[in-house]
Amino acid sequence: MAVKEVLRMGHPLLLQVAEPVAEFNTSALDALIADMFDTMAVRNGAGLAAPQIGVSRRVVIFGVEHNPRYPEAEPVPTTVLINPVIEVIGDEDDEMWEGCLSVPGMRGLVRRPTCVRYSGFDQHGQRFEREAHGFHARVVQHECDHLDGILYPYRIEDLRLFGFEDEVLKAVAD
Ligand code: NI
Repeated sequence: MAVKEVLRMGHPLLLQVAEPVAEFNTSALDALIADMFDTMAVRNGAGLAAPQIGVSRRVVIFGVEHNPRYPEAEPVPTTVLINPVIEVIGDEDDEMWEGCLSVPGMRGLVRRPTCVRYSGFDQHGQRFEREAHGFHARVVQHECDHLDGILYPYRIEDLRLFGFEDEVLKAVAD
């Protein structure tokens, strides 16, 4: 398939609420998912949402084995998640320096719930449900935000904790 251009913050499509997928096992859906995996791999993404490659549909992918952009992150299973629903479990939350392929070169400190239950459909229209915590839960929430037109900078509580990746990571390490 193909590595696609990743739209950057400021592109109006990233602000749209994406449409649900109505039909599974179509060549269009299969091609979209293949393009998303190719694009995520080339950019070392932990996840990607369809609107980021210009397709306003409720499709996200994610997965981490070892990711140079997030060297400390625990593994996340490689997943296709379509028409997702997220439910927060408990009242714990935590903070992490998030990045996004649509906001290249930047990081921001974002607070999110630590544990979630998510459900949706896989590539073949099979419904599934999982519980996730930590980095896995964070990636799911970040990617699903894209489907509602939300980019992580909108969730930063203190904009002083938003900056260029190399500066931020150097400051955190000091
Ligand atoms: Ni993102």
